[in-house]
This record gives sequence, structure tokens and C-alpha cells, in this order.
Amino acid sequence: MVKAQPIPPDGHAAAVSLAEGNRDENRFPDAYRLLLDRRPNLHIGFGYGMRYCLGAPPARVEVRLGFTAPMTRFPDLRLAVPPGELTWRHDFRRGLQPVACHHAERGLTTGAS
Ligand code: HEM
Repeated sequence: MVKAQPIPPDGHAAAVSLAEGNRDENRFPDAYRLLLDRRPNLHIGFGYGMRYCLGAPPARVEVRLGFTAPMTRFPDLRLAVPPGELTWRHDFRRGLQPVACHHAERGLTTGAS
């Protein structure tokens, strides 16, 4: 039994999704919003327990740099479309379709896929 749902009897498969666990509204209010300052943030994106990701510390550094470096280097960078017009990819990768941005000095730039 998981959250009052019976697990199927023998012969059936059950899959566990870490990504879905991170979007559990009981644990994460407004779970589908990216809130970089979410506290507490007991996500399971790096797994849990004895299989916890060995690369989590360098991965955290990479993500932090990936967010802060472009903002520091190009503080005037802005979306060229309203946020409501952004579209998501519909394949196995989670992410946005390439999006045009506007830069004060360089004008319009187009995101690469
Ligand atoms: C954002 C980046 C990353 C994410 C989201 C991530 C996620 C995960 C997850 C969910 C697991 C657990 C898998 C399981 O329970 O079976 C895992 C395990 C692991 N990850 Fe990562 N990972 C990332 C980056 C990295 C990097 C950069 C390295 C190496 C430099 C790495 C090395 C490993 C290793 C060796 C394990 C297996 C640990 C074990 O089974 O004892 N990961 N990772």
C-alpha cells in the first residue's frame, strides 16, 4: 500500500519515480514551481540512503555556476518573449524549448537546441 493505493498483486510491476517524489504536493507546496530558495527542501533528486549520489557535491557546484555565471556576465539579459509563451520539450529530456533572449548590447540572440 502506497498512499492508500494498493500495490498490484504478483506479476505486476511497480515503478518508483524520484522526479515524481520531488513533485509531491504534500512535501513540497507549489511543487511544480522552481523555487531556488525553497526551505526546507528535502528533495530526492540525488537519490537516498546508501545509493545517494557520489557526485552530488560537484553537481551542486556546476548547477550553482550554471545559474549565477550567465547572470553575472550578462546582467541585462532578458527573455524576448513573455514567460507564459515559453514551451516545454515533449521527449525524455525535461526542459524548455530554445528561447530567444534580448541583450542590451548584442540585441536579440536565439537559444541553441
Ligand atoms: C545534477 C546532476 C546529478 C544528478 C541529478 C544525479 C542523480 C543521482 C541519483 C538519483 C543517484 C541514485 C541512483 C539510485 O538510487 O540508484 C545517483 C547515483 C550516483 N551518482 Fe549521480 N547525479 C548527478 C551527478 C553526478 C556526478 C557529476 C557524478 C560523478 C562525478 C555522479 C556519480 C554518481 C554515482 C557514482 C552514483 C552511484 C552511487 C552508489 O550507488 O553508491 N552523479 N546520482
